[in-house]
Amino acid sequence: MTDEYGLLDTDPEAAIGDEWEEIDVTDTEADRIARERDREFEQFEEQIKDAEQFKVEQSVFDDATFGALYKLVADGHIEAFGGPISTGKEANVYEAMGGEGTEVAVKIFRVNASPFQQMRTYLEGDPRFEGIGNDKKQVVLAWVRKEFANLGRAREAGVRVPRPIAVERNVLVMELVGLVEDRARRLAEVNVENPETAYEVVREYMRRLHTAGLIHGDLSEYNMIIHDGELVIIDLGQAVTVHHPNASDLLYRDCENVASFFSRQGLETDADELFEFIAGDDDRIVR
Ligand SMILES: Nc1ncnc2c1ncn2[C@@H]1O[C@H](COP(=O)(O)OP(=O)(O)O)[C@@H](O)[C@H]1O
Ligand SMILES: [Mg+2]
Repeated sequence: MTDEYGLLDTDPEAAIGDEWEEIDVTDTEADRIARERDREFEQFEEQIKDAEQFKVEQSVFDDATFGALYKLVADGHIEAFGGPISTGKEANVYEAMGGEGTEVAVKIFRVNASPFQQMRTYLEGDPRFEGIGNDKKQVVLAWVRKEFANLGRAREAGVRVPRPIAVERNVLVMELVGLVEDRARRLAEVNVENPETAYEVVREYMRRLHTAGLIHGDLSEYNMIIHDGELVIIDLGQAVTVHHPNASDLLYRDCENVASFFSRQGLETDADELFEFIAGDDDRIVR
C-alpha cells in the first residue's frame, strides 16, 4: 500500500544503536592544492571561473573551494559540471556528471558568507563535535561532514535520502535524485496525489531517523523531494542527535511543519499526534 512513495524495506537486524563515528574537521588536501597552485590547478580554476554556470556565484567561492573541486575531479567523483539547481543561504547545489556516467548533485557550502553563528548552535551539544571552536571555517567544514555522515546514517536506518558519495572540505557530492532532464520536485511544488500514503511514508521515515538517534531539524515540504514515485528526504546538514539540548524542540517543530502540510492536504492530523508516534516511548525526548 505504501509502494506508491517507495517506502524502503528495512532489515531489523541492521538496526543501529546510538554510537557515533568520529568526525574529523582538520584540514585538508584542498587547502594544500590551493596554496601550492600548480599549473594544472591554475588552469582548472580559470576554466571553472569562466564557465557560464559559475559566473554569478563564483565570488562566493574561495580558492580552497576550487581546490576541493579540483580534488573531487582528480579522484573521479566529478567528471563535468552542469547547471545550478539551487542557490541557498549556506550552499549552492549544482548538477554534475559523476564517475561512470552517473549524475550527481554537488552541494558547495559558502565558507565566508554562511550563517555560521546559527550553524554553531546546532553543533553545540552534538557529541560528534565536542570541542569545536569558534572558527568560521571549522564550523562550516564540520557542518558539511555532518551532512555527509547524517546521510549515511539515515540511509543505514532505512530512510530514503540521496546516497552520499564524497566530501571534500566545503563540498559534498551525492546522488542526484531525478535526472538532469527530468528534475525532482520538492513536495511543496507538486500536487500530492495520495497524501495519506505520502504521510505514512514520511512519518515512518521520521520514526526511523529517530530510532537511529537523529532528528532532522528542518523538515518540511521544502526538504522532501519526489521523483519517479519515490519520496526522498534531503538537507540533513542541521540534523542533530537525540542528545542535543534542543532535540525535543527541533523534533516538535519538524512535526508541526509536516503535520501542517498534510493537514492542508486534507488529512486529519496534528503535531502532537505525530510527535507521539515518533518519540512517544523515548524518555530522552519530552514535551
Ligand atoms: N541530491 C539531490 N538531488 C536532486 N536535487 C537536490 C539534491 N539535493 C538538493 N537538491 C535540490 O537543491 C535544493 C537545495 O538543497 P538543500 O540540500 O535543501 O539545500 P539548502 O540548505 O540550500 O536548502 C533542494 O530543494 C532540491 O531542489
Ligand atoms: Mg533545503
